[in-house]
Amino acid sequence: VVLRRKIIAGNWKMNKTPNEAAKFAKELAVKLNNSGAECVFCVPFVDLIPVLEAVKGTTVKVGAQNMHFEANGAYTGEISAGMLAETGVSHVIIGHSERREYFAETDEAVNKKAIQALSNSLIPIICVGEKLYQREQGITFDLVRMQTRIALKDISAKTAENVVIAYEPIWAIGTGKTATAEQAEEVCKAIRAVLSEIYDETTAGKIRIQYGGSVSPANAKELFSMPDIDGGLVGGASLKMDFEQIVCY
Ligand code: G3P
Repeated sequence: VVLRRKIIAGNWKMNKTPNEAAKFAKELAVKLNNSGAECVFCVPFVDLIPVLEAVKGTTVKVGAQNMHFEANGAYTGEISAGMLAETGVSHVIIGHSERREYFAETDEAVNKKAIQALSNSLIPIICVGEKLYQREQGITFDLVRMQTRIALKDISAKTAENVVIAYEPIWAIGTGKTATAEQAEEVCKAIRAVLSEIYDETTAGKIRIQYGGSVSPANAKELFSMPDIDGGLVGGASLKMDFEQIVCY
């Protein structure tokens, strides 16, 4: 049996100014210090440095919510993995459904970003998940398997051990409609099976898979107790102090 340490990340999305972020992060990080689960605040770019400062001396880690796939160059308005790494950021969310939907991010771009993140020693939290109509069409498993395969293309088994996959059914994001623990588990289990096909069982057993979509203090424990769910990617509920109850579920 492999023991995977749970990883619970807050995705603040486009919320909190630098001052608000620093104040909130400082207060919350103290409560989350030495939590059993690894805990990450994924914050807007301009909040990264103040939040890194605010969580100093605690075990809380800081992540970004996006990055460009090239190392540098003429990409006005973009941020590179190297820039993130130098600030002290340890994680970066890649391929969130909001980026796929509103910024036309493709599976290929997700793959390039994951490779670039890993080569800068950042841990990519790679998001996959289906829309409601895709679930209704019965293609959830095929779609999520494909998203996972493309995201990990040309990434070796040894390197892939560091990756985190976040399964976020799009119909459950910000809707208050959580997937049942069974629904979430069956997809996370299928993701682990595809990881086994791409790599091997040992590697698949080391990669952490999160669930995301309306995670709250009320449902966290049940979700995170499922055998293939190794934590969560939390949106709305990560903006409040009771995120503590999700991390210390
Ligand atoms: O990345 C986390 C997210 O998309 C889920 O959002 O607000 O449903 O927890 P929320």
